[in-house]
Amino acid sequence: MKQKSPSNDPGHAADASAAIGVFDSGVGGLTVLRALITALPAERYVYLGDTARLPYGTKSAESIRRYAYQAAARLQQRGIKCLVVACNTASAVAIDVLTEEFAPVPVIGVLEPGAAAAARATRTGRIAVIATESTVRGGAYPAAILRRLPSAIVTQRACPLFVALAEEGWTDGPVVDAVAHRYLDELFVGTRERERPDTLVLGCTHFPVLGPAIRGVVGDGVVIVDSAATTAQALAATLTNAGIAAPVSATGAIELLATDGAERFARVGGMFLGRSLDAADVEIVDLQIGAGL
Ligand code: DGL
Repeated sequence: MKQKSPSNDPGHAADASAAIGVFDSGVGGLTVLRALITALPAERYVYLGDTARLPYGTKSAESIRRYAYQAAARLQQRGIKCLVVACNTASAVAIDVLTEEFAPVPVIGVLEPGAAAAARATRTGRIAVIATESTVRGGAYPAAILRRLPSAIVTQRACPLFVALAEEGWTDGPVVDAVAHRYLDELFVGTRERERPDTLVLGCTHFPVLGPAIRGVVGDGVVIVDSAATTAQALAATLTNAGIAAPVSATGAIELLATDGAERFARVGGMFLGRSLDAADVEIVDLQIGAGL
């Protein structure tokens, strides 16, 4: 069905000086990378945005699994010690495949940390999840939340236009507000007070940059959670437990890869990462050669 990468050997997984691989369909996962760098600044990161095939969230589970495998295989060629799937869509449908295929390299998704954060944050047990169509369709978030909090009442809403707005770098203004109202009014404005969710999960790594617009619709009383900080905690624990954390004295670094559009990736990605990027900082790679699932 697929070929294992030749560099998929345990030697890489055990090397504390190796980089941490991080991928998403586009720039959204940079919101996660930002949290990883804040929590673990001494680590080296190689980030891959599969911009040529974005969005993942409207694709079939089969395609998403194939894309995720190919992205992870490319990162594995760099000899990574750990893989962070900074995409809820890929975490929802491909985490099992990736965990199995890339063992012994530890694979950390963003969905379980996001569900854990939501279960901790809610007081009423009413939790809303906004995500891509594919993440919503698979029901992975409700399942992960209910495993932790069986009494929870979880509602979901697919918000695919948020991905397009974020990739466009439109994070505020009347168009963003209108889309946010269209998606969220039904969950928050049109519901009776006692039925209203008290917690909203941003179940897509593109959504945190739209935080202020989303807050404008849901109001101050709702706790908005995303998985970036909890994923950073999960990564820290994994590295420590495996004895592969970089020494605190090490100098951290970031390498950026994309499958299309270096200039665009740098322009919009800088906003997500919180630092200015240059197109020359982004290496364009092709994932399809010799990497099939
Ligand atoms: N950022 C991704 C996620 O967290 C997917 C966006 C997309 O490609 O549709 O789900």
